[in-house]
Amino acid sequence: ADSAADAVAAFARGEPVLIHDAADREGETDVVYPAGAVDPAAVARMRNDAGGLVCVALSDAVADALGLPFMQEVLDHPTSADHELGYDERSSFSITVNHRDTFTGITDEDRSLTIRELADVAAAPDDEAFADEFRSPGHVHLLRAAPDLLADREGHTELGIALADAADQPPAAVVCEMLDDETGAALPPTAARAYAEREGLVYVEGASLLADLP
Ligand code: 5RP
Ligand code: CA
Ligand code: ZN
Repeated sequence: ADSAADAVAAFARGEPVLIHDAADREGETDVVYPAGAVDPAAVARMRNDAGGLVCVALSDAVADALGLPFMQEVLDHPTSADHELGYDERSSFSITVNHRDTFTGITDEDRSLTIRELADVAAAPDDEAFADEFRSPGHVHLLRAAPDLLADREGHTELGIALADAADQPPAAVVCEMLDDETGAALPPTAARAYAEREGLVYVEGASLLADLP
């Protein structure tokens, strides 16, 4: 596997990084991009090569400034009363959004526009401008990182934002799980590493980010 420093350098260049959280957590490898670097080809890579849910993680400070709640807290429905997970205390899901300049919101063009505009918002959050620029529900899932990041929670949400911070990028990171086309399960780490090698991408273990990121 590559080092945390390799991951920070790739992120600073606007390249994606593959992050495996931990065998005793989700056991998933996410493709993670700095949001500002996501073009239509990046969305195509995520849906074709990764296959999971395309989400944008935002820092707690940005989510707070924009008034973005956790989804579980705003859903007034019995399914959200008990949101027990097998691998963590809670999920990081917030609301879904589309930029208002999108049409359906799902195309590679539309999702990449929504995602890049979210990077701009994260660089200078303004709640009134946010509602003028985005509509909800939409086709991009927002995730809300824990206030103390990796000290609070060790999910891809926090790993992505910690990487963005270390790489001097706005606190907006896109994450998408890699699934195995043969089995439908999470792509095994060995296969995720082989993909990274074929594509010339960085692959890191969550543990090395936990050990080496500030
Ligand atoms: C959203 C998810 C992913 O696992 C994503 O990596 C964010 O979750 P977490 O921070 O819990 O790892 O469920 O598709
Ligand atoms: Ca997950
Ligand atoms: Zn995850």
